[in-house]
Amino acid sequence: MATARGCFLALLAVLLAVATGVECTTVAYGERSLILDGERRIIISGSIHYPRSTPEMWPDLIKKAKEGSLNTIETYIFWNGHEPRRREYNFEGNYDVIRFFKEIQDAGMYAILRIGPYICGEWNYGGLPAWLRHIPGMKLRLHNGSFENEMETFTTLIVNKMKDANMFAEQGGPIILAQIENEYGYTMLQPNNMQSAHEYIHWCADMANKQNIGIPWIMCQQDNDVPPNVINTCNGFYCHDWFPNRTSIPKMWTENWTGWYRDWDQPEFRRPTEDIAFAVAMFFQKRGSLQNYYMYHGGTNFGRSAGGPYIATSYDYDAPLDEYGNLRQPKYGHLKELHSVLMSMEKILVYGNYTDTNCGDNVTITKYTLDSSSACFINNRFDDRDVNVTLDGITHHLPAWSVSILPDCKNAIFNSAKVKTQTSIMVNEEQKTGRFKWSWMPENLRPFMTDEKGNFRKNELLEQIITTSDQSDYLWYRTSLEHKGDKSYMLYVNTTGHELYAFVNGKLVGQQYSPNGNFTFQLKSPAKLHDGKNYISLLSGTIGLRVYILFKDYFIRLLEQ
Ligand SMILES: *[C@@H]1O[C@H](CO)[C@@H](O)[C@H](O)[C@H]1NC(C)=O
Ligand SMILES: *[C@@H]1O[C@H](CO)[C@@H](O)[C@H](O)[C@H]1NC(C)=O
Ligand SMILES: *[C@@H]1O[C@H](CO)[C@@H](O)[C@H](O)[C@H]1NC(C)=O
Ligand SMILES: *[C@@H]1O[C@H](CO)[C@@H](O)[C@H](O)[C@H]1NC(C)=O
Ligand SMILES: *[C@@H]1O[C@H](CO)[C@@H](O)[C@H](O)[C@H]1NC(C)=O
Ligand SMILES: *[C@@H]1O[C@H](CO)[C@@H](O)[C@H](O)[C@H]1NC(C)=O
Ligand SMILES: *[C@@H]1O[C@H](CO)[C@@H](O)[C@H](O)[C@H]1NC(C)=O
Ligand SMILES: *[C@@H]1O[C@H](CO)[C@@H](O)[C@H](O)[C@H]1NC(C)=O
Repeated sequence: MATARGCFLALLAVLLAVATGVECTTVAYGERSLILDGERRIIISGSIHYPRSTPEMWPDLIKKAKEGSLNTIETYIFWNGHEPRRREYNFEGNYDVIRFFKEIQDAGMYAILRIGPYICGEWNYGGLPAWLRHIPGMKLRLHNGSFENEMETFTTLIVNKMKDANMFAEQGGPIILAQIENEYGYTMLQPNNMQSAHEYIHWCADMANKQNIGIPWIMCQQDNDVPPNVINTCNGFYCHDWFPNRTSIPKMWTENWTGWYRDWDQPEFRRPTEDIAFAVAMFFQKRGSLQNYYMYHGGTNFGRSAGGPYIATSYDYDAPLDEYGNLRQPKYGHLKELHSVLMSMEKILVYGNYTDTNCGDNVTITKYTLDSSSACFINNRFDDRDVNVTLDGITHHLPAWSVSILPDCKNAIFNSAKVKTQTSIMVNEEQKTGRFKWSWMPENLRPFMTDEKGNFRKNELLEQIITTSDQSDYLWYRTSLEHKGDKSYMLYVNTTGHELYAFVNGKLVGQQYSPNGNFTFQLKSPAKLHDGKNYISLLSGTIGLRVYILFKDYFIRLLEQ
């Protein structure tokens, strides 16, 4: 019975595969571009992070990306969201990553899988699960058996999930590129770790290649010490003057920052539409063939996902799709126009010959030719003056800091600084109606101020991440002491956390948070002790775990005044 049924299912699967025409895509690369099914291709991609929106939003976000003339969606993989406790996994709700990739596939788009699994990403602890720190001898992101073992286990898990769902290009799925590690180039600069970092990054490349996924592996922001079996790519605001580490690999831009993330208390960062269009047009003028907007939709840091105390809940990023998934005009429309023009020139850009002609110091004409056709770019890199440039007898006017695209070398049909899309002013429902109201819930602090039972007893202050394992932002300390008579003291607590509250006998006596990004700070507050038993309670808080920097120990002192 079981066998017969198995056979039937297998047969059905084959029939379905034929019926839906599942086709495998081969992915290779050359100096000019990625090569999909033997054809050189331009990839215009946008980052959408699945946990920063909800599954209900995904189809609409992806559809809007496609309508914005993107052909690819890129996302990181969020390790600590998927494995909140060691070997306990979460692939539900907005962590249903397979569903997300299936939505991309259904939209007929390609996908870039950036596993990391260290991702930075302004994400809680850069994506690393806090429980890693419980493993003896753990050295994060270095050539260390403990770390490499966990990293390989998780990477393999993700790869196998993708394989089981036929998500890789050679299986007929959308994924054409995969990334291992993330912006490790910055970390490698620390002189005390050089040798271990070198061994680690080569181990990463070998481990990734062992996964056998049939598509290239990339590393971004890794310009020195690039392992030979990966492609290095550029992240930044401009990448036109950047070239990959080796010849015969394409020039790819994995993060073109459409804006920037927002810090609490800081104004929103705005990257002008004209400037981002300039950066993209310049990149393609200079032989770029793959670029990804970081972010195309930024979304929201739900719950405690933001990477540290400064990063706001909104991860809007001034992206072409705003936090709620609305089109942000004119950015969305202007870039869509640019993408359409570039895609219409795809063949000539990746197959054509090219010549760059400098007209003075800050103006360059690039002419691509293929058979009898030609296509041109003209850039004006002066940021303070317009120029007129004559090409084959026709004069073209270029505003300051702009690129014109002439698909026939005669008519400039796009200029990065001439924005035709209308600006839209969005009013959030929330602002309009004030329909969301805050409410407050009192918390019972009594147990933390009295002899009621705590979770455990220690004679020292603790390392916070190890203690809370990132299951909570709060760590309460309570101690008591006998004192003779009434007396005033000064209470000092040294911390490397984000904020600290001190209570004496149930009364708040002081509070302090890390000033100016300095996480080594000291709380100093007057404290009165009375005759008999006194309680000192401390609430040590984190607001998400920072990317890069790890917590150190806490110290406490009580000094007589
Ligand atoms: C690294 O990992 C190994 C496990 O292979 C462990 O024994 C070692 O002590 C770790 N730590 C350091 C600092 O090397
Ligand atoms: C590429 O990486 C190699 C190996 O680390 C290094 O020796 C070389 O200088 C790099 N080349 C460029 C052009 O950055
Ligand atoms: C991406 O675009 C933004 C906005 O124009 C720019 O400021 C940023 O430098 C670009 N990033 C890179 C890596 O070029
Ligand atoms: C590019 O130029 C080379 C050398 O001038 C020529 O042999 C080749 O046919 C040209 N290729 C194209 C696509 O025009
Ligand atoms: C090119 O333009 C930039 C930006 O306006 C300017 O700083 C620079 O001096 C110009 N270069 C020359 C050679 O004029
Ligand atoms: C460019 O040409 C136009 C039309 O001839 C003229 O009005 C303008 O002054 C010129 N601008 C520059 C910067 O030369
Ligand atoms: C606590 O911080 C103060 C002020 O920065 C410093 O002088 C003192 O040495 C620190 N104490 C400990 C134990 O680190
Ligand atoms: C941070 O604060 C500590 C303690 O007050 C001080 O010793 C240290 O110099 C400060 N660091 C910076 C970068 O300001």
